[in-house]
Amino acid sequence: MRIILVGFGVVGRSFAELVLSESKKLSQGFGLKPKIVGIVDSKGSALSPDGIDIMKALNSKKANGTLEALAPVYRKGIGGVEAIREVECEVVIESTPTELSKGEPGLSHLRTAMKEGRHVICTNKGPLALAMPALIELAHHNEVMFKFSGTVGGGTPVLDFAKKCLEGSEIKSISGILNGTSNYILSKMAADGSMMQDVLAEAQKLGYAEADPTYDIGGFDTACKLVITSNYILGSSLSIKDLEIKGITGITGKDVEAAKAKGNTIKLIGRMEKKAKVSPEEIPMTHPLNVSGTFNAISFDTHPAGQITLVGKGAGGKETASSVIRDLIEIRRTFAR
Ligand SMILES: NC(=O)c1ccc[n+]([C@@H]2O[C@H](COP(=O)([O-])OP(=O)(O)OC[C@H]3O[C@@H](n4cnc5c(N)ncnc54)[C@H](OP(=O)(O)O)[C@@H]3O)[C@@H](O)[C@H]2O)c1
Repeated sequence: MRIILVGFGVVGRSFAELVLSESKKLSQGFGLKPKIVGIVDSKGSALSPDGIDIMKALNSKKANGTLEALAPVYRKGIGGVEAIREVECEVVIESTPTELSKGEPGLSHLRTAMKEGRHVICTNKGPLALAMPALIELAHHNEVMFKFSGTVGGGTPVLDFAKKCLEGSEIKSISGILNGTSNYILSKMAADGSMMQDVLAEAQKLGYAEADPTYDIGGFDTACKLVITSNYILGSSLSIKDLEIKGITGITGKDVEAAKAKGNTIKLIGRMEKKAKVSPEEIPMTHPLNVSGTFNAISFDTHPAGQITLVGKGAGGKETASSVIRDLIEIRRTFAR
């Protein structure tokens, strides 16, 4: 299976490392022999139909942040669209940064890959949050698979669990703690009375929060994941623009203490019932969504099985790369039929 990796950051590199460390298991267990024929970052592309030396690519990126050591197969300035058009492959893995105004550069990468007849695995939430129904349609039209397990729940198989394991059940509503940074901040405020600014600074130091935390604490990351989950599981046709979004920036220590006095805790919750919305909510301490730290949790209110909650690490390079591997195995299985 020939693969082009568009985006060689935390997720892209973790995937490459897994391909190296798990090669025997993938080959013996699933007949999967991934050959990386393209790696694209923000500065250029390494392209070789014969396969790229993964270790050399990882070392080059580690040493100086570029893929230049892969010369002569490295060419500065060649972007994802050009790379996808130029080199034959079966699968394009898109893991460039999430961008929520136009969904670029991810949206162009996905569209090009599908039009070129490549299967697509995407961990980038931007294109899906903005244009998921159109992308699914484009994938159908071009008869390619479009997988995006890593966009929700990191390595926790939220989407496939609900889609495959809850077949035959009615899912009446979905609610979840879908952003680890916000949950870490709220958990710490509740545990020791810390101020939001202090916890945020600490989260940034620990690498849980970005330098610009708006995307996380403003509720936008949760909103992206809710859109993807609702569209995939409930068949809705939402874009992030359809959601009411309120983040946690207005939550004070007083609010947290008042909730605590009632036996409750404040959580940032993405909820899809009749409408989809993101907002801080008070839930009882005993509620299954009351997970602490950077954990994520998602609850499906089902008929007839009742409430089913899945808890796991919602992010992380290795975790997310493991979901990419799952998607790859599914593509391989479908191919091999
Ligand atoms: N990290 C996680 O735990 C996680 C979990 C789930 C989903 N995601 C999503 O997965 C995606 C990747 O995350 P990440 O953590 O790997 O991000 P990252 O570390 O910032 O890596 C992004 C990669 O994309 C490359 N890139 C940026 N602009 C590009 C362009 N115009 N063309 C080609 N490549 C470009 C960057 O190039 P340079 O290397 O040159 O900067 C970098 O290699 C994001 O959308 C993120 O939201 C991440």
